[in-house]
Amino acid sequence: MRALAFVVTLMNLCWAGGPLLAADADNGRTLAERWCVGCHVVSGEQRKGTDIAPSFASIAERSNFNEEKLAFFLLEPHPVMPSMALSRDEARNLSAYIAEQKRP
Ligand code: HEC
Repeated sequence: MRALAFVVTLMNLCWAGGPLLAADADNGRTLAERWCVGCHVVSGEQRKGTDIAPSFASIAERSNFNEEKLAFFLLEPHPVMPSMALSRDEARNLSAYIAEQKRP
């Protein structure tokens, strides 16, 4: 029983933001600046962009915004967006980065 409790505690520690499992928004930013800037305004500092695609800030502001759903969305090929073949981690990091842009 004690051993089980120990394992459960360990797992809880990991879920609660262990660096190995948590999405990495900083990495998401790097990815966004590499892959997404061509069409999206990906940060508040970016002055120039296109109007063909919504800015990441405006996506984060949507009332139905959901970080997990977005991560799944990013794994699917998008009709307008070229398929970027993101890994699961990359999709989660991007999603976390976009979520950060929601104004508190
Ligand atoms: C070649 C241009 C292009 C690139 C590069 C691109 N996008 Fe897009 N993206 C679009 C366009 C255009 C839309 C709007 C699609 C629509 O309105 O149906 C869009 C829409 C989206 C949406 C919103 C979908 C929705 O629910 O309305 C998200 C989220 C998104 N892109 C994320 C990304 C991310 C993350 C990247 C980088 C990994 C990226 N995009 C790269 C063109 C692009």
